[in-house]
Amino acid sequence: MGIQIAPSILSADFARLADEATAVSSADWLHVDVMDNHFVPNLTLGMPVVESLAKATNTPLDCHLMIEDPDRWAPGYVEAGAASVTFHIEACRAPIRTAREIRAKGARAAMALRPATPIEPYEDLLAELDMILIMTVEPGFGGQKFLDVCVPKIRRTRQLLDKHGLDLWIEIDGGVSADTIERCAEAGADVFVAGTAVYAAGDPNAMVEQLRGLAEQ
Ligand code: DX5
Ligand code: ZN
Repeated sequence: MGIQIAPSILSADFARLADEATAVSSADWLHVDVMDNHFVPNLTLGMPVVESLAKATNTPLDCHLMIEDPDRWAPGYVEAGAASVTFHIEACRAPIRTAREIRAKGARAAMALRPATPIEPYEDLLAELDMILIMTVEPGFGGQKFLDVCVPKIRRTRQLLDKHGLDLWIEIDGGVSADTIERCAEAGADVFVAGTAVYAAGDPNAMVEQLRGLAEQ
């Protein structure tokens, strides 16, 4: 698949979501941050908005669930129109069942790790998943500073995948910019979420292409 860029609509103007979603036509995915004010101290949007967004854009939706009890809610996001659904392992009680339900409904299943959550305990789960999301900020807000301390985990995750002959995608989320994307790509990441970097840019599409170019090197 190569390098993929997923602008995060968390940094978009929520009053003009459809326009903001379609404006970034060069994006591979639209990253949709679902927050419940419990798993993270912020509240964004839920299934009805995902359903409307899915109708408003042809870009596939990459739903990042920063919510408690994803076992209960994740499959519903596939029905709402998400092409990829990511649950946080710290909040998930039955990750194998949840991943299988997401896949059975026709979406890609992904597991997210907060900055302090290691990948190693989940080695046996990798084959049940399509993507690992490695957070490079504490989840909850856009515009935070990239945490360099997370980069070795990207490398170790890619090594584990190689060891098992698995070709899952590794997605990076938080503080991704022209200054930080290269070190993540070099460590083995291939899907990049960028909120502030894309939506605060004068030309969001040009920024997507710039980020893609830097990651491809
Ligand atoms: C943070 C969200 C991110 C956020 C990234 O909890 O998961 O997707 O939108 O925003 P930036 O790119 O500004 O760090
Ligand atoms: Zn996110």
